[in-house]
Amino acid sequence: MNAHDSERISGLLEQDGMERAESEDDADLVVLNTCCIRENADEKLYGSLGWLKPWKEKGIELGRERQIMVAGCLAQKDKDRVRKRAPYVDVVMGTHNVHRAVDLLEHASMSGGITEIFDEAVIDDHALFPSALPVRRERSYNAWVTIQIGCDNTCTYCIVPSVRGKEISRPFGDIVDEVAALARDGVTEISLLGQNVNSYGRDLSLDARRAGDADIKLRPQFGELLRAVGAVDGIRRVRYVSPHPKDMNLETLMAMAETPAVCEHLHYPLQSGSDRVLTLMHRGYTAQKYLEKIAQARSLIEDAAVTTDIIVGFPGETEEDFVQSLEVAAEAQFDSAYLFIFSPREGTEAAKMQEHFIAPEVMSSRYDRMKVVLDHSAIIKHEARIGRIEEVIVEGRNKRDADAFTGRTRQNKLVHFKSADALRAGTYATVEITSAARFHLSGQLIEVGAEPTHKVRLSVQAL
Ligand code: 5AD
Ligand code: SF4
Repeated sequence: MNAHDSERISGLLEQDGMERAESEDDADLVVLNTCCIRENADEKLYGSLGWLKPWKEKGIELGRERQIMVAGCLAQKDKDRVRKRAPYVDVVMGTHNVHRAVDLLEHASMSGGITEIFDEAVIDDHALFPSALPVRRERSYNAWVTIQIGCDNTCTYCIVPSVRGKEISRPFGDIVDEVAALARDGVTEISLLGQNVNSYGRDLSLDARRAGDADIKLRPQFGELLRAVGAVDGIRRVRYVSPHPKDMNLETLMAMAETPAVCEHLHYPLQSGSDRVLTLMHRGYTAQKYLEKIAQARSLIEDAAVTTDIIVGFPGETEEDFVQSLEVAAEAQFDSAYLFIFSPREGTEAAKMQEHFIAPEVMSSRYDRMKVVLDHSAIIKHEARIGRIEEVIVEGRNKRDADAFTGRTRQNKLVHFKSADALRAGTYATVEITSAARFHLSGQLIEVGAEPTHKVRLSVQAL
């Protein structure tokens, strides 16, 4: 969500006439779009603000105005601290103010530093859903599409609900229209984005009922949305992040199974394999339920890859709890996982459980032990792909080998392969998988399929 907000801020600035600078020496503006969900975002922020002070002062020497903007959820949470520690920052703005970026910069230019943080999303199409704003997509063939903002859950470790506000679903038709517009623009792969995508629509039917609409079809379900966007002409791949295990229903899995465009990949955050810790985390499911659901997903969706998020060292996690997490992770046989060490986020319930915090050395040893289990299943899953013919979408040249390209399979795995001909990013190709490693596959190009139809972005210098 944070990365997508950055694309929106870039899009707004480009629409206003700015261009991406090659280095900070060329730049008139630096935007730091922060995210406070984990770890030391603040250290990184203040580190960057340290070197930006002389950068800004140099601007005065050079006779050009240089501006600094700090955006995102850390800015929102720590606005006063940012102002105090770095009074030279021109604009501090929150997650609900993205649409105001250009106005705020102009205002700061005329009347000095400004801070603007809206506590709630503004009920106005443009402000509410960042997808309604101009965008500068990092990749021209795929795109994020926001379907929902905020989160109504209360996971005790998580800062998101307090910085992103309550859950609001974007109208069904607007989402499908945006996907159709993207497809006309040459995008073939979309990722639906939300904090809890499979509860999509819950608020829409509640609102309709409150308004007295007795005929309202009970909430548009997430599964229906998958089917609708998957049916858009030109869309070949649909992904989504992230669902919540407690809200996963059969309809979503059936929609995945029955919609050819929806990729065979389920990112399914486990967080912990101990029921006791899951309760402390407020997750609303048991390890058993979790395992049953992925077994169901694998039985319905042929060849489904399952990936996850796991937190080690939640306050009060005992050795026994942790061993249960190891066992559940081993049984789940994940294709890959994001593994996190618990980090207390100011203001969350878990941050108040200080007397139960786990010693850092115990957390890091648990991290290493969990990684062994996750790496083991990743390699097994990857080796199982050897000999298969996979469809990949080309991402670009392999950074380490000039003759090789990197593509992504429908299961979201990276594949490196050689091609004598240059392949444009966004091209579809088929590749036979010849070897496997923990984080990628290698293969041999079989055939180049559809070329991308999107426009190529030329850098200004090249013209
Ligand atoms: N500490 C560690 N990991 C966290 N996550 C969210 N909050 C925290 C925290 N306080 C992880 C969860 C979530 C992912 C996006 O980040 O695993 O699924
Ligand atoms: Fe955070 Fe839980 Fe909401 Fe995910 S579902 S954003 S972990 S509160």
